[in-house]
Amino acid sequence: FWTYILYTTAAADVIINNFRANDSFPLFPRNFLFGTASSSYQFEGAYLADGKGLSNWDIFAHEPGNIADGSNGDVAVDQYHLYLGYELSSESFPSPAHRASLNGIVITFLQCLGIFLLEKDIELMEDIGINTFRFSISWARILPKGRFGDVNIAGIKHYDKLINALIEKGIQPFVSLTHYDIPQELEDRYGGWLSPQIRKDFAYYVSICFKYYGDRVKYWITLNEPNVVAIRGYRSGIYPPARCSATFGNCSSGDSEREPFVAAHNMILSHFAAVNLYRAKYQGEQNGNIGITMNTVWYEPISNSTEDKLAAQRAQSFYMDWFLDPIIFGKYPEEMTRSLLPNFSYDYLKNGIDFIGINHYTSYYAKDCLHSTCVQGPGITKTEGYFLRTATKNNIPIGEPTEVDWIYVYPQGMEKMVTYLKNRYNNTPMFITENGFGEIPQPDSSINSFLNDNKRVEYMKSYLDALISAMRKGADIRGYIAWSLLDNFEWLSGYTTRFGLYHVNYTTLKRTPKSSAQWYKQFILNFTAFE
Ligand code: NOJ
Repeated sequence: FWTYILYTTAAADVIINNFRANDSFPLFPRNFLFGTASSSYQFEGAYLADGKGLSNWDIFAHEPGNIADGSNGDVAVDQYHLYLGYELSSESFPSPAHRASLNGIVITFLQCLGIFLLEKDIELMEDIGINTFRFSISWARILPKGRFGDVNIAGIKHYDKLINALIEKGIQPFVSLTHYDIPQELEDRYGGWLSPQIRKDFAYYVSICFKYYGDRVKYWITLNEPNVVAIRGYRSGIYPPARCSATFGNCSSGDSEREPFVAAHNMILSHFAAVNLYRAKYQGEQNGNIGITMNTVWYEPISNSTEDKLAAQRAQSFYMDWFLDPIIFGKYPEEMTRSLLPNFSYDYLKNGIDFIGINHYTSYYAKDCLHSTCVQGPGITKTEGYFLRTATKNNIPIGEPTEVDWIYVYPQGMEKMVTYLKNRYNNTPMFITENGFGEIPQPDSSINSFLNDNKRVEYMKSYLDALISAMRKGADIRGYIAWSLLDNFEWLSGYTTRFGLYHVNYTTLKRTPKSSAQWYKQFILNFTAFE
């Protein structure tokens, strides 16, 4: 009876909340994955612990001036320790050494008192009710010196424990093999993604991951947002290895016209090396899925003219199809052939994917610049492929602007993006591997202003609504993974921008649920309980 009352109340709550897509239950199939996402550099901290090697992000973030608030991921949200083990809060025991010196009995005793303790992150996940957790393995934690040194057994054990703990709670590990950070050794030795050698080294690294974890990990992402790495690492130079031509950014170490394409080519071939290895040696027995995650932006033509529509298509080609076309069709998009692209000379390229991972947050207008004059200005950039990317049309933004300058709330973009991918790639299975809302609160804001994140709730509702609409029209979406479980290190913005469903106090590392955590919990409960 009480269960019935609970479910009825929950369903009524959804209707009251005016969730537009609720006219039939159930909305999601039983095996649909709901999760939250993270990445090693943004979450783990413990940057030198237990034999970990330095990554390119360790080096880059330590360089003064690179990160907005002068911070880095040395400690991040300390998930390396806090995912499972009860930790004494630094409120009571400020020094990590001090904390570590206390033995398990003391910890258990304090735990019984229910004070001074931070909750395990895995319990937070369990509380929300997610059935998948996306995290990345730090390459430098497994192979501190890339292929030029030994496997770090402590690193292997760390992820082993994490994976087991997740599975024990019924949470599927969804694992990215790289999420921006690679061992610095590979940058120093041969220039990282710029060298073909990385393909072999990546294959060696992933073979270790498949071997140790493949019995339990059923979802592998080879690369997270390789398009962002290629553009920011090698065109604008704002991410490591910070290479660009002087005309493109603040560095003069690279060649912004050529290197993004070389790095991308090596990433695509590294992806293939991983997929081929997985399929040849592991997939049969381990029965998992392997894919890639792209950053996606919906480009809306700024007018109905054919020119602007073609410009929007070129924008997609130069941003996303750049990677997905070679991986799925074996060749670069038509629109890109004018640029400096290396050639593929391998026949084994094609169908190199079991699923497409979609990170989606925002949309822009695209305007043609081949046949008309394009003037650049704030927020308006002329991009490769000769289109303009702009957030406004006649000064009206494409969607509601947010505190994060690149996010405009345009949920229709989610439906359009997914539908575009469905049509172009023959409805290859898709996962939303990231979607989320960032806020930049004042450091001295009251805790309540951090916790009442109604804008995040509205954002997630509207994007899920658009996703459901695409699913109803046949898009093969297998999961939705929110960015992010916790506030964390947001790359160039450091700790100033918060994407978490849980607030993190960066002094004490204490996690506190925001309204969005409660909402997501309720959503998952309502929309999966009626199966
Ligand atoms: C995409 C990246 O994969 C993730 O690391 C980042 O924090 C989010 N976008 C938000 O910017």
